[in-house]
Amino acid sequence: MAKSIVVASGKGGVGKTSISVNLGLAMARQGRRTILLDADFGMANAHILIGANPQKFIMDALDGDASMSEVLCDAPHGMKFISGGTGLLEMLNLEKTKRYQAIRMIDELREQTEILIADAPAGASDSSVSFVAAADHVVIVLVGEPTSFLDAYSMIKAASLESNVKNFCIVVNMARSAEEARQHFEKFNATATRFLDVNLTFSGWLPLSERMRRAVVARRPVGLDATDLPENIAFQKISKAVLGSPRNLHGGIRFFADEEAASAGT
Ligand SMILES: Nc1ncnc2c1ncn2[C@@H]1O[C@H](COP(=O)(O)OP(=O)(O)OP(=O)(O)O)[C@@H](O)[C@H]1O
Ligand SMILES: [Mg+2]
Repeated sequence: MAKSIVVASGKGGVGKTSISVNLGLAMARQGRRTILLDADFGMANAHILIGANPQKFIMDALDGDASMSEVLCDAPHGMKFISGGTGLLEMLNLEKTKRYQAIRMIDELREQTEILIADAPAGASDSSVSFVAAADHVVIVLVGEPTSFLDAYSMIKAASLESNVKNFCIVVNMARSAEEARQHFEKFNATATRFLDVNLTFSGWLPLSERMRRAVVARRPVGLDATDLPENIAFQKISKAVLGSPRNLHGGIRFFADEEAASAGT
């Protein structure tokens, strides 16, 4: 059964795209059929981190100019990738119906997908919340700054109150140690669960890493380097934690939604 994961944060620049790309590569490296969707429509940049040069974008499929398989681009380790397109003004403020249409069009890829990872845009706008609400597992990227805590809180609040999303996986990025990452999680968890009826799981952490920073400049993700690098060990652990976390089961517009209804009927 295809599983969907969304990576979001609220705050921009905290590492959503780096984590989406490398989490996808870690899963693909384990032999899972993985598709990465750059859901930052109009401001997409996952292709830069991957070092890919997509010729077709999700907009082409939405406009009926390409099939979903034509917008799939090859990425390392056998991963597939769908670009959200850049510099397309009409994509920046995609209306709700088009966003939902994009979520439904991903259904066409169900047979060839084990894991779908969506890299959500920053902010707690309708656009990011609709992707958060569409996924089975929600990864929230947190860094140890009050602004990140506040924005992650706003995102979780919006997703839980508007769409009834209950379960969130917290990944702490750019931490100095496991202990520091755990402390950030505990502090954030205490505040969030005091005010919201949500369940947060600590799903791992990543160090502040010169290698991660340089990877963007070199357009070569760390997920292509040795599996025993600390960053790649961390991505393996995060992948296991996220896939083992409680799945969100609320209603609404969900990735691969009718699969459940179909399998329930058999
Ligand atoms: N663990 C890390 N250590 C050091 N630098 C990092 C780490 N994770 C991400 N970065 C750097 O932080 C910057 C922002 O990362 P990234 O683009 O992944 O964030 P983002 O949340 O997707 O941003 P946006 O909100 O603009 O989409 C990049 O320059 C990246 O190299
Ligand atoms: Mg990004």
